[in-house]
Amino acid sequence: MTSTSIPTADRAEKADAGPGVPLIRLRGISKTYGAGETAFQALKGVDLDIHAGEFVAIMGPSGSGKSTTMNILGGLDQPSSGRYLFRGVEVQSLARDERARLRRRYFGFVFQGFNLLARTSALENVELPLVYRGEPAVARHAAAQQALEQVGLLPWAGHTPAELSGGQQQRVAIARAIVTQPQVLLADEPTGNLDSQRGHEIMELIQRLNLEQGITVLMVTHEADIAAYAGRIVRFVDGRIASDSPNPDRIGLKPARLDAAATEAH
Ligand SMILES: Nc1ncnc2c1ncn2[C@@H]1O[C@H](COP(=O)(O)OP(=O)(O)OP(=O)(O)O)[C@@H](O)[C@H]1O
Ligand SMILES: [Mg+2]
Repeated sequence: MTSTSIPTADRAEKADAGPGVPLIRLRGISKTYGAGETAFQALKGVDLDIHAGEFVAIMGPSGSGKSTTMNILGGLDQPSSGRYLFRGVEVQSLARDERARLRRRYFGFVFQGFNLLARTSALENVELPLVYRGEPAVARHAAAQQALEQVGLLPWAGHTPAELSGGQQQRVAIARAIVTQPQVLLADEPTGNLDSQRGHEIMELIQRLNLEQGITVLMVTHEADIAAYAGRIVRFVDGRIASDSPNPDRIGLKPARLDAAATEAH
């Protein structure tokens, strides 16, 4: 990074032009893996706008490009062509370290496999993103404890993943994702390794983060009853968006409840 460049996080913050401007805008996004005869086009021109505060479920058959899209959104991978604007900032124009900063500043990730460090306590797992940020230990402990409390696991802070159930491990992973107070939560099949009951508990938690804290959620799932928690459902088929529509049958908490709460608060 040169000394004249504006730090990315600041640039993204300043670029936020307020209501109406999508948080995320994809235009003509294509992704080709490999080259020559083995080249495979995983995405074939994806257009997508996501506004702050939305909860979007991404569905579609295996291999249709869902994870590829999530990886591009989170700055973990680069598109082969097309434009990705995050808060109005052209993500492709950023240097690698700037993209990493954008990722750490704005995104939280939750995966199917939890991805926790095995011999490390829940608290230390949750603290990890703050270690990467260079936060002092006292601030890290406090933030990690708060995040564990939000997912209902504070009493388990000292336990290692092996001492926790699958549902509890996923809660720790969610606490780790939100400890940095991200604006966007990217969840790729967060209930894929859980039984139905545990899956619904995780969904209630994710829905609360969306509705009560305003975290924008993009979640990949294969299950219709899990997608039912989202306010909007996007379906991928063969590297393209085949449908994109609001979910009138959204289950769980209703955004209206919050609207009422917000009105009361004013
Ligand atoms: N790193 C890679 N190298 C080569 N091909 C890849 C790579 N990552 C993904 N692909 C291919 O791109 C296509 C889309 O993959 P992607 O992981 O996005 O699918 P998906 O919709 O998430 O599927 P699933 O529901 O099985 O997770 C697949 O055919 C996959 O084999
Ligand atoms: Mg996938």
